[in-house]
Amino acid sequence: MTIERLPSTEEGQRPGLVTGDICRPHGFAPRIDVSSLIDTDHGLIDRAIFTDRRLYEQEQARVFASSWLFLGHVDQLLKAGDFFTTFMGEDPVIVTKDKSGRIRAFLNSCRHRGARVLRADYGSTRAFTCTYHGWSYDLEGKLISVPNEVGYSQELWNRDEWGLLEVAQLDTVLGLIFATWNPKAPPLDEQLGDMKWYLEAFLDRDSEGTTVVGGITKWVLKGNWKLAAEQFGTDWYHVNMSHASALMVLSPTGKGPKAEIANTAGRQYSDDRGNGTGFPVHPKSRFDAGPVHKHYDYAAMRERLGAARVEGPMTTGHATIFPNFSYLPVNGSIRVWHPKGPDEMEVWAWTVLDKSMPEEVRTAQRLYNLRTFGPSGIFEQDDGENWSEIQSISHGWRTNTVPLNYQMGIGTEAEDGVHPGSTSELYSDAAGRRFYKRWAELMNTPAWHEEAEQ
Ligand code: FES
Ligand SMILES: [Fe+2]
Repeated sequence: MTIERLPSTEEGQRPGLVTGDICRPHGFAPRIDVSSLIDTDHGLIDRAIFTDRRLYEQEQARVFASSWLFLGHVDQLLKAGDFFTTFMGEDPVIVTKDKSGRIRAFLNSCRHRGARVLRADYGSTRAFTCTYHGWSYDLEGKLISVPNEVGYSQELWNRDEWGLLEVAQLDTVLGLIFATWNPKAPPLDEQLGDMKWYLEAFLDRDSEGTTVVGGITKWVLKGNWKLAAEQFGTDWYHVNMSHASALMVLSPTGKGPKAEIANTAGRQYSDDRGNGTGFPVHPKSRFDAGPVHKHYDYAAMRERLGAARVEGPMTTGHATIFPNFSYLPVNGSIRVWHPKGPDEMEVWAWTVLDKSMPEEVRTAQRLYNLRTFGPSGIFEQDDGENWSEIQSISHGWRTNTVPLNYQMGIGTEAEDGVHPGSTSELYSDAAGRRFYKRWAELMNTPAWHEEAEQ
């Protein structure tokens, strides 16, 4: 497989700088056609997609700039002025609640010389004041104070032009906040499609909704972000091998995994927007903390969500909402894989709980999540080790000349009459293939900001 470059735009076509939000044509950089790197019909993928710096930069400008990205949970912002900071791709953002109670997200970069206007992870404020020269912005992103403002030329200066850049769209679903820079992105609901039915099995168990507890746990891993995102979308296959020791610890006898976990029948959902989730289908397929298991009234849950969800996606499953948001329903784990260069990711993970859970059940769920999927969790360590292992050898020349195999379950996707959308067997690469198909589609299509420049 070879990397082919599309012709680059002529230097002479570059328009001049303007004060608006897209002043540099991202289409100016050479673009790489990824068609020869992703062959989902035959389940073959070139390792360059995990290592190549030029592909990584194109991914920022086309995949991350175009997609709905996860920001956080609504309960991180309780009143006007509350804020937290996060990233959309590599772009730092502030998420806040303005005076009218509306959630808003801004690029966390001062319009003067570009410093971050907020360096705290979270807090509460009345304004965002840059610590370099003191430009200050209100909760609506408007520039409200400029030291020595008289020093600016009356002809050029227009303070209203220099507010914080805001995301194009922001929406919430089941307590989760998503945003996109893309003004033309279809609504979040459309990006989810049938995936919402599966997400509800996790986040709509309680009429009071969900909350997050214990802050955000953050850690750095060697490994391209896609290795984690695809695994959470498509990979039940690794569970018995990679997590053998953890399954042994959790087994009732201490000698081996529960039979219903080891020999699992289940389904894997995938769609053409790149979303994927897999789950065992078994009434007893649960690995959660005892107090949480006892807390649930399964009859009432069947009434609320339907038996297909209680015996499927509510159990021990895994999921990714394209591109880099993932979750584990039984563990109460939601996480985002922040890209930090082609070889590194930062994992940010939250514990989600049903709001009506009593205190002791909340504690049990939080500790169970940390024990299994915290940074030193008995499962999490196995996964991180695998991704780091793959990344650590992926720059070799010979290593890069052979494609990777994503062929499991090829051609088995179908409507199963129980679970919405297209599903395959649980042991399948179907969601992985569709994740990369979507990725390639975005990589090969000029993004909204490139079209605007043409
Ligand atoms: S960089 Fe923010 S005020 Fe100068
Ligand atoms: Fe795993």
